[in-house]
Amino acid sequence: ASVMILNGPNLNLLGTREPGIYGAATLQDVADLCKQTAAGLGLEADCRQSNHEGVLVDWIQEAGALQRDGRSIGAVLNAGAYTHTSVALHDAITGSGLRLVEVHISNVHAREPFRHHSYLSPAAAGIVVGFGTEGYRLAIQGLHRLAEAARL
Ligand code: DQA
Repeated sequence: ASVMILNGPNLNLLGTREPGIYGAATLQDVADLCKQTAAGLGLEADCRQSNHEGVLVDWIQEAGALQRDGRSIGAVLNAGAYTHTSVALHDAITGSGLRLVEVHISNVHAREPFRHHSYLSPAAAGIVVGFGTEGYRLAIQGLHRLAEAARL
């Protein structure tokens, strides 16, 4: 089975973007970490990034369909700034029935007030916030546990 790892706007700039907040790891480093973590669980990580909201909606729907077919355990999503703005992403998650773990590299609750609200959290199975890029590993492990528990 697979797990989809989705990154939203500006996460292609990881490594050079505000390294004091987001760290030195690049998106490629994150993809490598995800593939390694997934492989350790017998899973394949499908890592994607887009700056475009509608593309993320399409991928969430695709991930939901793969999960429904039993070919995926769900998805990990760092939606970047769309987290704080996007009803469309919220509706894509609930509408597709996707098992989703929301990830934020930084602790959004210790930052500006506009980062404190997430449209995605009510639709998420779990949330990982503030652990740096290590959060992607934690999210995959948590998603795997939820998927295993759902089978019992
Ligand atoms: C982020 C936090 C968001 O507020 C921000 O817009 C990002 C990255 C994080 O991973 O900490 O782009 O999702």
